[in-house]
Amino acid sequence: MKFFIDTANLNEIREAQDLGVLDGVTTNPSLMAKEGIKGKENILNHYKAICEIVSGDVSAEVIATDYEGIVREGLELAALHPSIVVKVPMIKDGIKAIKYFSEKNIRTNCTLVFSPGQALLAAKAGATYVSPFVGRLDDIASDGIALIKQIVDMYMFYGYETEVLAASIRSTQHIIQCTEAGADVITSPLQPILGLLNHPLTDSGLKKFLDDYKKLNS
Ligand code: E4P
Repeated sequence: MKFFIDTANLNEIREAQDLGVLDGVTTNPSLMAKEGIKGKENILNHYKAICEIVSGDVSAEVIATDYEGIVREGLELAALHPSIVVKVPMIKDGIKAIKYFSEKNIRTNCTLVFSPGQALLAAKAGATYVSPFVGRLDDIASDGIALIKQIVDMYMFYGYETEVLAASIRSTQHIIQCTEAGADVITSPLQPILGLLNHPLTDSGLKKFLDDYKKLNS
């Protein structure tokens, strides 16, 4: 399973990269705004800065919602750095653009996916990644993890190569549930990833090991 970090914060990206388990980054316009990144040139430079920190895929999202605009922005983003994956919303013109990009061997991440039917269209159009939003489904009392499982099973049955990138991860438990559901990738804020480190028996066990060592060695 691949771990992506879902942030545009360079310090958090560096911290995850330093841990040695980071496979990529996803961003979206809200995450860029959270970091105060505005204006086309600053936005493009920020993507380049992210690409210089990590060696894996970096999803950069288009703002346009019409076919020509998505293609124009996507080509510009893809030309920034070889790690860029063009993130395209799950809309009619987005699917057309994903098909165009896949024919040009430009990698894509189809975002804002909330149903198996949407995931089927993304795969048929040739998306590299599909991003079902787990947390936002849970927010409306739907079952985000069940959707991950449905998409994984569907892609496996038909042999689609599109990778299931579980997005909108809100907790460490979500990460574990996504592994159980067979997601290829999770994209998560830093804290749920760091939460994987924790277990009280690790803490108490380590304390006892160190106490026993000190008894004889101090
Ligand atoms: C996906 O790529 C999105 O950037 C992200 O995971 C959305 O998460 P949120 O629902 O916590 O905003």
